[in-house]
Amino acid sequence: MAKIHLKTTKKRAEKEIKKSKNLIELNQIFKRYLGKQGKVSQILGSLAKMSEKKRLKMSKEANELKAFLILELDAKTQEIKEEVRKSAEEAEWVDITIPGKKPVFGHLHPLTQTKKKIEEIFQSMGFSVIDGPEIETEWYNFDALNIPKDHPARDMWDTFYLKTGLLLRTHTSPVQVRYIERRNPPLKIIVPGRIFRHEATDASHEINFYQVEGLMLDKEVSVANFKAVIEEFFKKFFEKDINIRLRPSYFPFTEPSFEIDLSCPICSGKECSVCKQTGWIEIMGSGMIHPNVLKNSGLNPRNWQGFAFGMGLDRLTMIKYKINDIRLFYSGDLRFLNQF
Ligand code: DAH
Repeated sequence: MAKIHLKTTKKRAEKEIKKSKNLIELNQIFKRYLGKQGKVSQILGSLAKMSEKKRLKMSKEANELKAFLILELDAKTQEIKEEVRKSAEEAEWVDITIPGKKPVFGHLHPLTQTKKKIEEIFQSMGFSVIDGPEIETEWYNFDALNIPKDHPARDMWDTFYLKTGLLLRTHTSPVQVRYIERRNPPLKIIVPGRIFRHEATDASHEINFYQVEGLMLDKEVSVANFKAVIEEFFKKFFEKDINIRLRPSYFPFTEPSFEIDLSCPICSGKECSVCKQTGWIEIMGSGMIHPNVLKNSGLNPRNWQGFAFGMGLDRLTMIKYKINDIRLFYSGDLRFLNQF
C-alpha cells in the first residue's frame, strides 16, 4: 500500500514538474512534496510506526524519491531560467548592422544666418557687436539724433508709440548715442537689431524687421575710410567683387549724407530683375556723423569725427538669396525655411 503510495506520488510530482511554467510554480511543487508538511516528508515521518524490515525498505525508497525530486526540480529550474534568459535576450536584441536613423537637424533662420555672417565680417575688421533696447525714448530715437519734434523728417519713420510715452524704436540709430555716451572713442561698432515701423505690409514692407547700424568714431575718420570698410564688407558678404557708389542724400543725423548703391551681385551689373534692369541696388543710408549727434552724446565735435551707416538685414538677405517677399521671413512656413 505504502509502495503504491510512493509510486503515485512520484508520478504525480514528475508530471507537475514537467508542466510547471515558472519558478513560483516550481517552488509550490517543492513545498508540496519536500517542504516540512510535504508528502515525502510525511512519508518519512511515518516510518517510525513500521516494522523494521518495512521501515528500512521504505526509508530507502522515500529517500531515493526525495533525491530524485530534488534533481528533477533542479533541472526544471535551470530550464526555466534559461528560457527566461533567452526570451529576454530576444526582446532586447538589436541588429547593429541596420543603418542608423538620420536625426533631423534644425538650422538657423536665414535672418540669423545673415546676422552671424555680418557680425563675423565686421569683427574681422575690428568692430564690436553691440545691443540696444527695442523700446526706446523719444530722446534717443529722435531728438538726440537731431530730429526735433516738429521737424518734418520725423515723417520718415512711422512710429508705434506706447501709452507710457515710450516708443518701439524705428531704427537702430539710437544705439549710436547710447553707446557713445558710455564709452570713450575711438569706437568701432555694429548694432544688429529688430526695429518697428507703423506701416501697411506688402512684399517689401513689414511692421518689424532688422537693421544693422554701423559706427566708426576717431580723431580723423573720412568718407574714404567708410568707402573702404563698406566695400570690403560687401565683397565678403556676397563673396564676389562688388562696387559701390555714393549718392548725396539726406538724414538728419549725418552731414554729408549718402545713399549707398551696390553693383548688382546677381547679374554683376549686366541688369536683371533684382536690380530692376539698372545694374545697381540701393542698399543703405550713411554719412558723416552730424556734430549735433556728437554733442548730444557728450562729445566735442571739434575733437571727434566719424561715419555711420544703417542697412536692412532683411533686404540684404533677400538680395543674397533672391527672395521676393519680406513677409516670408516671419511666416514660419517650413517650406520656405527648409531651403536654407
Ligand atoms: N536710421 C536710418 C533709417 O532707418 C538709416 C541710417 C541712415 C542710419 C544713415 C545711419 C545713417 O547711421 O548714417 O532709415
